[in-house]
Amino acid sequence: MEDSRIGLPIGIALDRFIKRFQDDFPYATGELSQLLRDIALAGKVVNREVNKAGLVNISGSMGIDNIQGEDQQKLDVLANIRFIRALTKGGEAAAIISEEDESVIDLHNNGKYIIAIDPLDGSSNIDVNVSIGTIFSIYRRRSSVGSPVKEEDVLQPGTSQVAAGYLLYGSSTMLVYTTGKGVNGFTYDPTLGEYFLSHQDMRIPDEGKIYSVNEAASLGFPDPVKKYLNYCHENAHTSRYIGALVADFHRNLLKGGIYMYPSTTRYPKGKLRLMYECNALAFVVEQAGGKASSGDSRILEIAPNNLHQRCPLFIGSKAMVDKLESYF
Ligand code: AHG
Ligand code: MN
Ligand code: MN
Repeated sequence: MEDSRIGLPIGIALDRFIKRFQDDFPYATGELSQLLRDIALAGKVVNREVNKAGLVNISGSMGIDNIQGEDQQKLDVLANIRFIRALTKGGEAAAIISEEDESVIDLHNNGKYIIAIDPLDGSSNIDVNVSIGTIFSIYRRRSSVGSPVKEEDVLQPGTSQVAAGYLLYGSSTMLVYTTGKGVNGFTYDPTLGEYFLSHQDMRIPDEGKIYSVNEAASLGFPDPVKKYLNYCHENAHTSRYIGALVADFHRNLLKGGIYMYPSTTRYPKGKLRLMYECNALAFVVEQAGGKASSGDSRILEIAPNNLHQRCPLFIGSKAMVDKLESYF
């Protein structure tokens, strides 16, 4: 099967795809291609760990909290180590910021890129064999290469991302990413150790019927969100919530839907992190024709002032996010 838009057959290997489209990247020097390969490789390693999580002693809690004050799982720590190692060895990343690390990891090299990462998303699903993921954003550093990494390098708005995406460790493992020219999805074939193009030029349906939210917290939702939920109830919508943002997002990307994590009584600023979760998926969804909002602002335009800052997130089919916003 040949696709007329990108002229490549379904089933092309990720490496070949990256090479073929390298010249389309905003900075076509090959370094961004290498970074994507490094991320894909770390994803294979994490995939291997995830698949045997029930057999070896890597399920369960570390018994300590991470910087977010959340219970750190062993696989959170392991995935963080795997990604940091792959990105460090690759040499293209100048610095990494991670949901699991309090401060910036400055790699003191000549790398030109800054990576923001949620190494393991959906931690609470690890021990029960339900889908989890990894989320990443890539930025160009702003200060000169070789000097210590500065705040302006790491606290960039989502509009400055040069690439972003996620890995989903689900019934199959997938890598979905954008470099600002649409969204493509690759499925991992574990017998060959390769990702192959399976979802080309992904587009999110403009309308959908699925809403994904932790409705148990709804008493503490802001009024506009309560009203939107009423609208969903009255208009034959259906509720689907896995509890792993990547997995809920991916389903809605394919089928049409909205994912919501508003401010709640427990999380007055929302639970999700702008730098590690919201920006990457906002870039992907916009590139797929959808929309991402904090209720009153476009996610990608929020100016970050803190590495670990949280924000409300409403993301998915454009018409659904528009409707939600109309109540704000
Ligand atoms: P993480 O595992 O990286 O901390 O992220 C968990 C997030 C997100 O993946 C998920 O959608 C949400 O937390 C679920 O939160 P609730 O249990 O509060 O619904
Ligand atoms: Mn997460
Ligand atoms: Mn996480």
